[in-house]
Amino acid sequence: MHTTINNLRIAYTDEGSGPAVVLIHGFPLSRAMWQPQVAALSAAGFRVVAPDLRGFGDSEAPREGYSMDQFADDIVALMNHLGIGRAVVGGMSMGGYILLNLLKRHPRKVAGAAFLLTRCNADDAAGKTRRAELAAKVRAGERALVEKAFADILFAPRTLKEQPQIVDTVRSWIQKTSIAGLAGSLEAMAQRPDYCARLGEFDHPALVMGADDDQIVPPETIGPFATALPNSTSCVIPGAGHMANLEQPQSVNACLLKFVRLCSQRFDLRDNNG
Ligand code: MLT
Repeated sequence: MHTTINNLRIAYTDEGSGPAVVLIHGFPLSRAMWQPQVAALSAAGFRVVAPDLRGFGDSEAPREGYSMDQFADDIVALMNHLGIGRAVVGGMSMGGYILLNLLKRHPRKVAGAAFLLTRCNADDAAGKTRRAELAAKVRAGERALVEKAFADILFAPRTLKEQPQIVDTVRSWIQKTSIAGLAGSLEAMAQRPDYCARLGEFDHPALVMGADDDQIVPPETIGPFATALPNSTSCVIPGAGHMANLEQPQSVNACLLKFVRLCSQRFDLRDNNG
């Protein structure tokens, strides 16, 4: 499905009916990553909406206009378009950075915040420089560098060996991402603020999920992230890397479903009053 929001054609999945769950994909991926969660949550009685962020998947890729504020505003505009006042929102990695922005700028849209394989800190100076250099190279035609930098570290070493079909599929998503989306999001991630010292302000029900073989977000960071959120639970998925939702979908679904059920008991997720 697709619609025009904020003057841009946005593609999205909208499956199931019931309390709403919105899933925000990571970098440099697309909504296709959520297929196992869309299937499980919609079968369990939830309405699951998963957009392709601007610049990714089947959504339009403007030359400019990439920022965490803009990504969050696109999510809110899509929710409003779909008549979703409030939802449990899950964000994977870069999707988690967008979720932090949503909590700060649009807290009433979020009934529960599921942080998957993500972190609250900003990039350090060296990280910002690396992102800026990579963005410049991508714009100069070296887009393959993104696949080179990300494809392997997205997975647990065991997955690379034992589940090569998943790795190939994810590579095909990376290859499909637009140059504008890749470069614009790298710059947007470099500019994102640090939220770690402010997590105490977010008293929404929250879930922090990690994976024991994540090469991008070390599992040791999950406990402190969860502890800093006043109202949170956490889980660490065994035998998985950064793409835990594809590598170990059943464990991820079980943890996510438990959280989503808890949130839906506390809030009426069908309300349309934003
Ligand atoms: C992601 O998976 O979204 C990225 O690895 C996030 C990042 O590069 O910080």
